[in-house]
Amino acid sequence: MTQDAAKRAAELRSLLNYHSYRYYVLNDPVITDAEYDALFNELKALEEAHPELITPDSPTQRTGSDLTEDFPKVPHPAPILSLANTFDAAGLRAWEERNLKLLPENTALSYTLEPKFDGLTIVITYENGVLVRAATRGNGEIGDDVTANVRTIRTVPLRIPASPDGPKAPQRLVVRGEVLFLKKDFEALNQQQRKAGLPLYVNARNTASGSLKQKDSRITASRPLTAYIYAIVDSDMQFDTQWELLTYLRALGFLVANEAQLYPNLEAIISALPAWEKRRESLPYEIDGLVIKVNELDVAHELGIVGKDPRSAIAYKFPSEEVTTRLIDVTVNIGRTGKVTPTAQLEPVFVGGVTVSNASLHNYDQIEALDIRIGDIVIVKRSGDVIPYVVGPVTGARTGDEKPIVPPTHCPHCQTALVKPEGAVDLFCPNPRCPERVFRAVEFFVSRGAMDIEGMGPQTVKTLIERGLITDIADIFTLQPEPLLELEGFAEKKVENLMASIEAAKRRPIPQLLASLGIDGVGETVANLLAERFGSIEALETTALNIHKALKAFEKAIEPLLVNVPEMAEIDPDNIGRAVQRLRNPLVELAPRYIGVENFQGRLARAIAPLPDLALDADHTEAIANALKEVIQAAEPLLTIEGLGPILAKNIVDWFADDFNREVLAKMRAAGVQPPRPAQKQASNELEGLTFVITGTLPSLSRDEATALIKSHGGRVTGSVSKRTDYVLVGASPGSKAEKAKQLGIPIISEEDLLAMIGKH
Ligand code: IVH
Repeated sequence: MTQDAAKRAAELRSLLNYHSYRYYVLNDPVITDAEYDALFNELKALEEAHPELITPDSPTQRTGSDLTEDFPKVPHPAPILSLANTFDAAGLRAWEERNLKLLPENTALSYTLEPKFDGLTIVITYENGVLVRAATRGNGEIGDDVTANVRTIRTVPLRIPASPDGPKAPQRLVVRGEVLFLKKDFEALNQQQRKAGLPLYVNARNTASGSLKQKDSRITASRPLTAYIYAIVDSDMQFDTQWELLTYLRALGFLVANEAQLYPNLEAIISALPAWEKRRESLPYEIDGLVIKVNELDVAHELGIVGKDPRSAIAYKFPSEEVTTRLIDVTVNIGRTGKVTPTAQLEPVFVGGVTVSNASLHNYDQIEALDIRIGDIVIVKRSGDVIPYVVGPVTGARTGDEKPIVPPTHCPHCQTALVKPEGAVDLFCPNPRCPERVFRAVEFFVSRGAMDIEGMGPQTVKTLIERGLITDIADIFTLQPEPLLELEGFAEKKVENLMASIEAAKRRPIPQLLASLGIDGVGETVANLLAERFGSIEALETTALNIHKALKAFEKAIEPLLVNVPEMAEIDPDNIGRAVQRLRNPLVELAPRYIGVENFQGRLARAIAPLPDLALDADHTEAIANALKEVIQAAEPLLTIEGLGPILAKNIVDWFADDFNREVLAKMRAAGVQPPRPAQKQASNELEGLTFVITGTLPSLSRDEATALIKSHGGRVTGSVSKRTDYVLVGASPGSKAEKAKQLGIPIISEEDLLAMIGKH
């Protein structure tokens, strides 16, 4: 046993030394931080169990260094400590127990919970309120002087207090924080790279590090870095608690995480952990865990330091979401819309709690931008419910045997030439009869949660397609028992059940059918909204086709405007580009803005004014305005559904405008698919044609009840007041809607008035 332990310890030492060399010296790590931590913790645990195994060259005997030759060195006023790690609640409880043993009996501790920023440490010195020095962590004792670079970071105040109402700055203050990219800034940086045709950055943390360690601070200045501050390293100030300290730093003008929280005890923290893990995704910055700190600073001081770690704080690390593994091959996945997704075949790897052997590579543009090759060691990420994907290659691990990834030219399933629609990054198989597309569409259509047809598992679907018995989702409804009986494994009883299940599916409610068709973005919620507004799929289809027709006419109307637009303007996101974009996509960009606006010609003229000459011609704007009016008129029933945005509306229109989809619907109808009409509990038509807006708290009806009541009498309820509103129903403490109604001179009524209108009083 001890021999095994000794062998493993030696192995871990050599692995860790190699990886820390790659990280610190070559600036080119080949494993993720989380993987390094896992190895490090394994060694630490081994050494704790067998102290005789500790050697002077063990990586546990020193903490790393980020020193480079490029910068002058500065000593830190106090050691820049690290943190011990734990991965679960038990580890946290054990940590507290160890601490309590060192403290007087019955000491009660409160704690702060702070995000553990995934960036790099920075130590900033202020003298008489002025930033005089900034240094990296270095080896904890001395760091690289990166003052000029840190001065370019907008969130770092050059003078404190940053605001005249802030507290007076101490004579001397040395703070510690973390430099990083906000998620949105890193995306924007990569967007810039993409536009310039430059390689994309793979890892935000390494990029932040590289950005901070530029010799030319103008380069640093061009990178949108952020710095969060969380500790004081040295000062003549005294604080009772960590919470006060954070509050003070914030008041001085430092960026301090608003997400930090104070908890009365450790159990409260432990109960909050699951919610934090969920929250991780939606934070504006990347974190790799949480830091829990004893709030009482006198106690924290008393607890002291063990090795390089203060006893008073601990890092609670999240399970690693990023790992490295080998990319064995890339296969081509065709979705039901025809979208081509390159899929990575990986050496199986455990990540985010499951073993993963394939992952999305998004699209071929992305593969090229990231320069991913077959045979590469790649970073794979799986977080939350997101499908695992390849973040990028570890170029430092290349052997030279890696092969480029060549995009397919033809669909591997139907051999149709793939297409790339204008402006899209994805390739598509344009053949709606492609067996793979049909397979995906049918698989989804029959699944539980969609049409819920039992007895049609993926294998059956495959067989039916291979035999030519199904070429689209509508064919399901004309399946005959005889050919099915000939299939392997299809006994009489099974066929009977399947036929019964198909028969039952013919009368699924409208929302269920709508949500099963595979219209991009139309799930259960949206399908319900659509069913409620249109009452039948035919009515929705008619509206969609009307919109489509109006859009085609609009396209014609703007044609003369676009001939003169130079090609360049389309790519440039400047004013012309924006005006063109608006004109090209009126349903999304224009119609929603002008709904309910009587005379928008002036506003429209301004919106497209940047276009050369012709746009300013009054006749033309009038023609365009008229065409837009038609679009608005056609689209109003769709665009005024609350909870359904214009992009979704466009998806819906596009779907119904496609001949293939309409044929499928017609086939379904012919095969007897007929959703029952929703039972309309129409009480009267007293309110027919009237539109209401409800605001404030009504005396006896809830808002839902009032809505249902109005609808049951033939009226409509919308969310915002416009000239088309007939009545605003106002209760106690109404919002700005009541004001708006007054301005527009729309009659304001009470609940009592409403009841009177429908003869209930
Ligand atoms: S406190 C004595 N708070 O995590 C103070 N550190 O793995 C020790 N880190 O080297 C650090 N966010 O660079 C602290 N809110 C936070 C942090 C944080 C990130 C970093 C820090 C440290 C590393 C330890």
